[in-house]
Amino acid sequence: MNMPAAIEFDTPEYAAISAAREAWLRAVVAALPIRNALRTALDVGCGGGHFSGVLAELGFQVTGTDLREENLRVCRERYPRITFERVDLDAPFAHATPCDLVLMFGILYHLESPLQTIRHLSRAIGRVGIVSTRVAAGHAMAAYYFNEKEGAAHNTAPVTAIPTFPALLRLFQQAGFTHIYRPEQQPDHPQWRETSPPRHGQRHSFIVAREPLNVANWQRMDADNFLQKWQHAASNE
Ligand SMILES: C[S@@+](CC[C@H](N)C(=O)[O-])C[C@H]1O[C@@H](n2cnc3c(N)ncnc32)[C@H](O)[C@@H]1O
Repeated sequence: MNMPAAIEFDTPEYAAISAAREAWLRAVVAALPIRNALRTALDVGCGGGHFSGVLAELGFQVTGTDLREENLRVCRERYPRITFERVDLDAPFAHATPCDLVLMFGILYHLESPLQTIRHLSRAIGRVGIVSTRVAAGHAMAAYYFNEKEGAAHNTAPVTAIPTFPALLRLFQQAGFTHIYRPEQQPDHPQWRETSPPRHGQRHSFIVAREPLNVANWQRMDADNFLQKWQHAASNE
């Protein structure tokens, strides 16, 4: 049975993950060298709207989008001053005007086709994208198909494709993001620690941009190349 959206996003387990990400997001936004040039923000897969609210509090003009009407209803109730729209990231979509900052929190492991979605999303990302996601285990240039769970925090598609971390970095680089940074300081929660059990899928939080963002302790990430066609996958492990 599906939980009402408000309940699913308000569980103590979910709230602890949100609190850790919120502290991390606030620190990252404050550290951005281009902070003063950023005015508009797009929160994709916004769920119960928590991070749309945080971005609005930070002074951004925010649009939140989500696939599920039940989530959008909660968002509009909780954050009446923010604009929320229904957008299915698995369908071809266009955000009319690119936003300076695009938040991709908890969404990139819920997609049928991350390759296409990241390409489409790249057009909406005016200056900087901030990502927090789970990835499939391993170092292969791969995405794995998983059965998607049911409920407000999930896609309505029955199967989703989840990239490994190297594959996800390469998808962003392929979409034009030549500067990808992983802050050494990750959200302070066990699911971001490499020693945490793999039950949840390793979490990574990082920043994508088309320009250098030199910040102390932000590690610039190199993206591996995709395999050459028919190259044996084992050679990439
Ligand atoms: C794990 S929740 C993350 C919510 C919020 N961003 C957060 O980090 O707390 C994933 C959200 O993505 C939405 N979602 C799943 N598939 C989507 C799709 N294809 N297009 C747009 N939103 C989608 C779900 O409805 C849900 O609100």
